[in-house]
Amino acid sequence: MDKLLIAASGPLAGEVAASGAKNAALPILCAALLIDQPLHITNLPDLWDIGTTRKLLSQMGVAVSQPAVNEVVIDAKSITTCVAPYELVKTMRASILVLGPLLAKRGEAQVSLPGGCAIGARPVDLHLLGLEAMGAEIKLEGGFIHATASRLKGTRIMFDTVTVTGTENLLMAAVLADGESVLENAAREPEVVDLARCLIAMGAKIEGAGSSTIHVQGVAELHGATHRVIPDRIETGTFLVAAAITRGRVRITRTDPNLVDAVLVKLQQAGAKVATGVDWIDIDCRGRRPDAVNLHTMPHPGFPTDMQAQFMALNSFADGVSTIRETIFENRFMHAQELLRLGAEIRIEGNTAIITGRESLTGAPVMATDLRASAALVLAGLAAEGETLVDRVYHIDRGYERIEQKLGQLGAKIRRITKQESGA
Ligand code: EPZ
Repeated sequence: MDKLLIAASGPLAGEVAASGAKNAALPILCAALLIDQPLHITNLPDLWDIGTTRKLLSQMGVAVSQPAVNEVVIDAKSITTCVAPYELVKTMRASILVLGPLLAKRGEAQVSLPGGCAIGARPVDLHLLGLEAMGAEIKLEGGFIHATASRLKGTRIMFDTVTVTGTENLLMAAVLADGESVLENAAREPEVVDLARCLIAMGAKIEGAGSSTIHVQGVAELHGATHRVIPDRIETGTFLVAAAITRGRVRITRTDPNLVDAVLVKLQQAGAKVATGVDWIDIDCRGRRPDAVNLHTMPHPGFPTDMQAQFMALNSFADGVSTIRETIFENRFMHAQELLRLGAEIRIEGNTAIITGRESLTGAPVMATDLRASAALVLAGLAAEGETLVDRVYHIDRGYERIEQKLGQLGAKIRRITKQESGA
């Protein structure tokens, strides 16, 4: 198992480009199942989860070609099976995103029921309820979701809880359904909007993506398209925090400041100077210790839960006491235990963490537990004295493209230790 060895890095400086958004790319790759023509996707991040999705589509008989490392052309006309097997789904819950398009286009799907993960039970009941409301027959057997539908019927769907992939699955089901669908209490995340843009380019009739109410007029069929994935707002936010935690100055390019509004507000509250352009963000924290900031996670446009761990790392070094309330997932504080190993002062009370910032922390071996927790540990290692060894970095490779190269080009002292080297 690879590890990342991080040493106290001093203020980061320089420029780094954001990659395409993992959480936009995943549903867009699955949208290719809605057509029998090529879908050409560009600005695709080179990530473990993207590779898993390519593998998932290929084993269905779908043609997947890669004209370049950050591009893919998918042609589902050669599909041979509508099964998403356990061994792939267990490594990536987002495989559930094949369910809506397979049902809408092929009338059947067998998807292994995604298990929970470190951050929570993460049920998919709302996905299934919505598809049943559209006329699908859903049976759970042998750990699989068996779904069939002659033709889905447009209907009104009210989500009890805002669900990002639930909204995406039902959106992809509705675009080929018979009649109109209205998705109420829909997720407003930029990744939902990017999926809708791609579907519209494929000929779908969608209005209101990005708001809580999305109207879809079903059509008989869709066609091929080319789509460029939006920048990754969580990778962008993670690099912004890397600058703040090391009291440096960094410019992030190939991004979109509008995607990280709530994060920029919190960084400015922490004392950062921020300047933005159409596709870049300048953050300057030179010479100043961050101020502690309180936050609570919310569905978009609120503060993103995927940035919660990174801000807990920042608050661990900040001047003052702060509270972080996690309202989306029931178990998303596992990074706290690892930050305590670096000397952080954090108390957990239910879904709230109380952090007393320390002027400095001391590096130690720590364990990554989930994707964003591992990013938080890397950030803490950049600012802590001495060395921090982060184990189980396969978590981080799922969602960050070449993180040690990107941070390294900003002056971070970070290197990967492969299992051969460490003998583990
Ligand atoms: C997406 O997960 C993201 N993943 C997550 O990013 C992100 O943390 C999450 O949205 C919240 O923003 C992808 O887009 C691939 P939800 P998703 O359905 O869709 C409950 C990362 O780090 N719920 O919006 O699985 C659920 O338990 C990952 O990149 C139900 O109860 O999250 C949770 O409490 C981590 N029933 C809440 O809704 C359902 O059927 C929000 O979950 C679905 C969800």
